[in-house]
Amino acid sequence: MEALREGGFDDILALCGGCCSCATCHVYIEHGPEELKAPGSDDEDDLLESSAHRGEGSRLSCQITLDGAHDALTVRLAPED
Ligand code: FES
Repeated sequence: MEALREGGFDDILALCGGCCSCATCHVYIEHGPEELKAPGSDDEDDLLESSAHRGEGSRLSCQITLDGAHDALTVRLAPED
């Protein structure tokens, strides 16, 4: 989420600031490691379940920790709920 904001993607609201409580940072992992395509916790999974736009590769971007293995990661912003 922070990388998206720093990259100029102002459409990502991220209202809770990364506390995993708003789902306004919802993205779809389009290209990247398979392990990133599943929610990282039960809380994230529950929050994604409340989205009408949950789909393949849905993640809350604030719950993804980037490292050097994610250099080619591609995400698409989910529509607003
Ligand atoms: S910023 Fe609120 S859940 Fe990610």
